[in-house]
Amino acid sequence: MVGRSSFLIVANRLPVDRIVEQDGTASWRRSPGGLVTAIAPVMQRRHGAWLGWSGAPDEELEPFEQDGMHLISIPLSAEEIELYYEGFSNATLWPLYHDVVATPVFERRMWEAYRAVNERFARAAAEHAEEGAVVWVQDYQLQLVPSMLRELRPDLRIGFFLHIPFPPVELFWQLPWRRELVQGLLGADLVGFQLPGGAANFRRLCRRLLGVPYKGNEIFLEDRVVRTQAFPISVDFGELDEMVRRPEVVSRAKEIRMELGDPEHMLLGVDRLDYTKGIGQRLEAFGELLKDGLISPGEAVFVQIATPSRERVEEYRRLRDDIELQVGRINGETSEFGSQPIQYFHQSYPKDELAALYLAADVMVVTPLRDGMNLVAKEYVSCHHDLHGALVLSEFAGAADELRQAFLVNPYDVEGVKRQMLAAMRATPHELARRMRTMRRRVATYDVDRWAGEFLNSLESPAASDPATSHS
Ligand code: ADP
Ligand code: F6P
Repeated sequence: MVGRSSFLIVANRLPVDRIVEQDGTASWRRSPGGLVTAIAPVMQRRHGAWLGWSGAPDEELEPFEQDGMHLISIPLSAEEIELYYEGFSNATLWPLYHDVVATPVFERRMWEAYRAVNERFARAAAEHAEEGAVVWVQDYQLQLVPSMLRELRPDLRIGFFLHIPFPPVELFWQLPWRRELVQGLLGADLVGFQLPGGAANFRRLCRRLLGVPYKGNEIFLEDRVVRTQAFPISVDFGELDEMVRRPEVVSRAKEIRMELGDPEHMLLGVDRLDYTKGIGQRLEAFGELLKDGLISPGEAVFVQIATPSRERVEEYRRLRDDIELQVGRINGETSEFGSQPIQYFHQSYPKDELAALYLAADVMVVTPLRDGMNLVAKEYVSCHHDLHGALVLSEFAGAADELRQAFLVNPYDVEGVKRQMLAAMRATPHELARRMRTMRRRVATYDVDRWAGEFLNSLESPAASDPATSHS
């Protein structure tokens, strides 16, 4: 008999990745990405279970406890990783939902694997949920799960949250399996998006594709109402704010600056190595500032941290080569003895080391070509109780809707990025404090607990106009 929970998170990945060393010893490491950053603290504060994949092929693991969370592993075969995860999730949906900044691949075998894996997740959720439980399905890898799960367990309250942008109808229309995906999402009681624009795109798509009417936030199916709403995701402000006040983090931040040669300006980029993040665009802008003589090599250092990501997907392999070539080229052309203007690290770091980097940096540069939210921007703001520090932020990141006091840029406009980077470096302490204070107030108020609380409250209170509830 399986243990059942009244609250379940269903996500492609578990919050930890299983790492097996060459000598066979195994350990767990925090999984990459914003989804885990946001959901892990929420889960640690609520009782429930998290269903997801362990990050390695063919692993059958018993449910286990880790970092105060109850974890249930869903196995994926090597072929499923290739077709469902690297394929349909990350070579089809990821570029399609991010403004087709890379060309999506449409392959039937990938779609079949996506459907089969979604079915496995839905069955596992049905098996582990107690009567009337709340099940919260996460992100684009599992868009068919809501309807599959409702079919198996109509007693459940099902929520879905999309962490990435939901594209305009004209782009979504390319997808050969567009009806199935939309019907999959409509199995939820509440579908959450990062921004109101994503929710509006989805409602319009439902009407155009399936002919279902909507009014306000509510989509009217024959027998139920599906609510759609924006819930901008956030970070654990309190945890980061506390972390950067610790003496060891403060002294690590100082040490980082010293190791960099104590430059006047330390600029920082922290991203998964993903083509949506605009890493090349920001390095190009920085390189041109050096070449134009607007900043000198000893005066400013750009630290770019790029977490390894989806390394077997062709576009990601090419991106890594391109970025590494670009870093080498710019450094080759602009370095002086003893100083390299770009310091590039292709590694993952523990949270406190990242916090020290944020604290050390004068300018945080976040320039995605499209991003659902971008938690890095909110993490940087959370780490600056000193009110020092400037955020250069792309207008195409969801976070730009809230962090209006950032130095906003269009990442496609190199001259504009250069101008804003310079403005950020030259701003007076008073100006920086004014901007930072307002941004901090926003992130402190709308932190990750508020995000999860608002979503779950909304999920648990039925729609006023739902025919299934209005006469009960
Ligand atoms: P995405 O979800 O697309 O990766 P986000 O900016 O929303 O983008 O979230 C990225 C998360 O991953 C943040 O919490 C950030 O701190 C974390 N992260 C990014 N780079 C690293 C790294 N090199 N080591 C550890 N964590 C990282
Ligand atoms: O929302 C962004 C996201 O795709 C999450 O779904 C995912 O967990 C994270 O980025 C990292 O990506 P991956 O799981 O493919 O390494």
